[in-house]
Parts: sequence; C-alpha cells; structure tokens
Amino acid sequence: MQLSSLFPTLLLLACAKAIPTDDSIAKTPADGQSNAEPVNSSTGELLADVVMDNNAGCSPWYNWYGTGRWTYTEVQFCFYQRSTSTVAVVAQREAQYYWGAAWYYARGYGFSWNIQGTLVNGGDFEGSGKGAGPTEYYVFPEKVPAGTYAVSLNYNQVGPYWEADAAINESAQFSIVLGS
Ligand SMILES: *[C@@H]1O[C@H](CO)[C@@H](O)[C@H](O)[C@H]1NC(C)=O
Ligand SMILES: *[C@@H]1O[C@H](CO)[C@@H](O)[C@H](O)[C@H]1NC(C)=O
Repeated sequence: MQLSSLFPTLLLLACAKAIPTDDSIAKTPADGQSNAEPVNSSTGELLADVVMDNNAGCSPWYNWYGTGRWTYTEVQFCFYQRSTSTVAVVAQREAQYYWGAAWYYARGYGFSWNIQGTLVNGGDFEGSGKGAGPTEYYVFPEKVPAGTYAVSLNYNQVGPYWEADAAINESAQFSIVLGS
C-alpha cells in the first residue's frame, strides 16, 4: 500500500486512540471475540517474600475493571509488622487496557493509584503511587498490636492508557491477622 493511501488510515487510528467519549465508553468490549477478555492470573501467591517473611496479613487478590471496562487490574493489599511500625503494601498484576477489540498489557503505559482506608481499631491509612509494585505506601506512626483486624478501603486507579473517565474505583472489605 502506498503511503498516500495509508495516511487516512493512520489518521483514523490516531483518532481512535483519543480519550473515550461518552459514546464509546458506553460500548462493551467487542462481543463474541475470543480476545474480548483480559488475560488474568489464577489465584494464589501472596505478595513478595519480604511481606511473607514479616507476619503479613493480606487480602485476597481482587480482579477489577474500570468504568466502561476499558481498564483491568488485579490487586492485593497487605499489612506487615516491622520492629517498631506497621506497614501497608499494595501490589498489582495483569494491568491491561482495552483498545480496538482486544486487551493489551500496560507495557509503556503507566498507571497511578490512590488508596484510603481504615484498619478498624488500628488506625486510618492512605497513600498513592504508580505502577505495579509491590509498593509500601503507608507506615503507621505506631505499631499496630498483634490481632485480627477488619479492613475497609477504597482503591482508585487511573490507567493504563486511558484517563480518569475509565478509572477503576472500587472498595474492599476483608480481615487480616497481624503478628507481633
Ligand atoms: C479469570 O480466569 C478464570 C479461569 O480462566 C475465570 O474463571 C475467571 O472468571 C476470570 N476472571 C476474570 C475477572 O476475568
Ligand atoms: C469512588 O467511589 C466512591 C464511592 O462510590 C465515591 O465516593 C468517590 O467519589 C469515587 N472517587 C472518584 C475519584 O471517582
């Protein structure tokens, strides 16, 4: 194909990559396509060894889509004990975005996230960051005593690729056991 005839196609592609309009965000990912689902992980392993070695209490992995199913991520929340403090950690995997009837890994497209939550009877926590981690995003000013805690949190992720109108904004409730 000559470059001159390719050019309109490239223009169209460039336009299709624009931020989704209200119209396009209402569309669901191409029905009936074999690649219409994001790649996902089987459930399983916890966060990095550093967490497991430190009396960590972790949530399950959550599989979450953003508004309009333009984005997808899997995320896990852990808390672990240091000698004089308690640390909140988050890790993401399988971050993907939907474009042109298929799901793609984040690769060059970053994503950012924000977390706000409460350890019932243990204190509030919050933090923000970028990328898949694991990331320590909050250190409790005083070590949380050993015990079982109910956790309630909100997770907001923008990206990969798409902007805030395709954000993942979810809440989770789970319980954790913290060692001493
Ligand atoms: C992930 O994959 C498993 C099995 O392949 C499937 O049962 C599950 O529904 C998938 N989860 C999501 C969120 O796509
Ligand atoms: C996320 O969802 C919560 C609860 O529905 C809402 O209060 C909050 O405003 C949302 N945040 C954003 C950034 O949309």
